[in-house]
Amino acid sequence: MSTPALHPRAEAHGKVILLGEHAVVYGRPALAAGLPQGIVLTAHPLPNPASLNHLSIPAWQLDLPLRPGDDHPVARAAHAVLAHCHGPTHGWRIQGDSHLPARAGLGSSAALTVALARLVLGPHARLEAILEASMVGERIFHGAPSGLDSEIAARGGLLRYVRGAPPEPIPLAHPLSLIVIPSGIARSTATEVAKVRARHDRHPSVLGPTLDALAAAVDAGIQALQAADLPGFGELMDIAHELLSATGVSTPELDRLCALARAHGARGAKLTGAGGGGCLIALPPADPALLLQGLEAAGLEPLAITITAS
Ligand code: PMV
Repeated sequence: MSTPALHPRAEAHGKVILLGEHAVVYGRPALAAGLPQGIVLTAHPLPNPASLNHLSIPAWQLDLPLRPGDDHPVARAAHAVLAHCHGPTHGWRIQGDSHLPARAGLGSSAALTVALARLVLGPHARLEAILEASMVGERIFHGAPSGLDSEIAARGGLLRYVRGAPPEPIPLAHPLSLIVIPSGIARSTATEVAKVRARHDRHPSVLGPTLDALAAAVDAGIQALQAADLPGFGELMDIAHELLSATGVSTPELDRLCALARAHGARGAKLTGAGGGGCLIALPPADPALLLQGLEAAGLEPLAITITAS
């Protein structure tokens, strides 16, 4: 039995939302960045070409045959992406390596679906084809995602994103260092989005301006970054965290972790993504050592990342 071949290796970016989460659901802009090496996939022919494809990502505790009707959303989504790209359904073991925590708002599912599409379509495939295939999987994971995660997973760099419009790559004069702090608290994007929606419906005249302020922080943040004004950008992160708190998606623990980061020298700190748990981001001072030590001493596992323009 002969099956189409996969390319030997593919990768995709993770993502972090710097500013504008939740507001982006209401048509306002968001600023998001790609995390290098969100995932690296390698493809290996199975000894028996008639065996179902198998996906193994030890960092995410995944080790699954890829069946279309499987209970596991990763198996269904991965199978759907490969099938959408007319890739093989049998005969391959796909091995994944990632430094990102899964299900923490760092774009792990979009990174996986983009890299799977690239395993079939190859490194020179059209971006639109990769995005379309990624969205087939993302809909299985998330219902009706905005598409931001797939765009970032495929492109990397720094993007200003408005739902339904082509993303705008933002040039950066200097790489931007950030610390990602996983809170270890599970959260559901759908629950947090629904929470904001309910508060917005109860108090539209208050939540509308709050979302406008979050959007204004996006454009002020872009200006600060382009002017290399890191204290200004850090302050905007702090403001955005307070505004997100007002929408109802922060928690006492996320507030405590932001305060902890600031107490150890962070120039700004905020929740990133849906909130309710998941991750925070902190803008480190010139020497991040004390901040990293302080976070580690509190039992956290901070991730130092560098964002460069695409
Ligand atoms: O799933 P997360 O944590 O990356 O959050 C998604 C960002 C939201 O703005 C809250 C929702 C959305 O669809 O953009």
